[in-house]
Amino acid sequence: MGRIVYLNGEYLPEDQASVSIFDRGFLMADGVYEVTSVLDGKLLDFDGHAVRLERSLSELDMTMPLDKDTLLEIHRELVRINDVTDGGVYLQITRGAPGDRDFVFPDPEQTPQTVVLFTQSKPGIANSPQALTGLKVISIDDVRWGRRDIKTVQLLYPSMGKMMAKAAGCDDAWLVEDGAVTEGTSNNAYIVKGGKIITRDLSNDILHGITRSAVLRFAREAQMDVEERAFTIAEAQDADEAFITSASMFVMPVVEVDGVAVGTGKPGSVAARLREIYLDESRKSAI
Ligand code: PDD
Repeated sequence: MGRIVYLNGEYLPEDQASVSIFDRGFLMADGVYEVTSVLDGKLLDFDGHAVRLERSLSELDMTMPLDKDTLLEIHRELVRINDVTDGGVYLQITRGAPGDRDFVFPDPEQTPQTVVLFTQSKPGIANSPQALTGLKVISIDDVRWGRRDIKTVQLLYPSMGKMMAKAAGCDDAWLVEDGAVTEGTSNNAYIVKGGKIITRDLSNDILHGITRSAVLRFAREAQMDVEERAFTIAEAQDADEAFITSASMFVMPVVEVDGVAVGTGKPGSVAARLREIYLDESRKSAI
């Protein structure tokens, strides 16, 4: 049986949910999204994702079509109907379908936004074997647009980056701009040197990861040293450890950068500890 998805106020079987060919999400990537993880049937960091969603929309002159409580209710209902234990809920809001193609934004009074949510079931996601082996990454030029802080659905370059990594026999790519790592294709990037956790500072150059914010808070609470600044690929190759964070990967070790082993070439203890703390604490506060 297929999934039940949410589209503009209705819960529908996935094969009966369709949007217009004039939808601006389809024609212009004029939309934003969020991915909220589900563990044990509960949502992780829901509030953070809802706050970022509202910010992404407002940066693009859009409003929240639903209030936060309704949004939470839809997330929970989809998890319940589709019987998701572990996985995630994908949400996308576009500027809607004005009935033709035009660069100019349509009048929001005349064109309702398109709201889509669906679940992705990933049993055992918290026990991913990759957490024990670590990821290999390559570096590629960051040629994305300048507002990476807005979580838009323009994901062609991240997608190409994952394909470049795959072609090189690796798992993912780290994006480099002006000699420094911005972030991973779909995650935030970190190194650990001399016990210090180093990750790029927040700006329009990177997505303000919800997992990043939680992990840095937990790290500081555990008296770990954190430095928010840009770092280079050479520094990463010379680091004791490296890792990434995202809603779908949590904390995931990185063991190789451009063919060079990081530290011992095995997942490090800081990443392992942060992964454990993040999973424990997020489970406790899941709703
Ligand atoms: N990606 N940076 C980028 C470019 C991302 O796409 C993501 C998330 C992150 C991490 O953000 P968060 O911790 O809030 O998930 C950083 C999601 C998971 C995705 O596209 O599937």
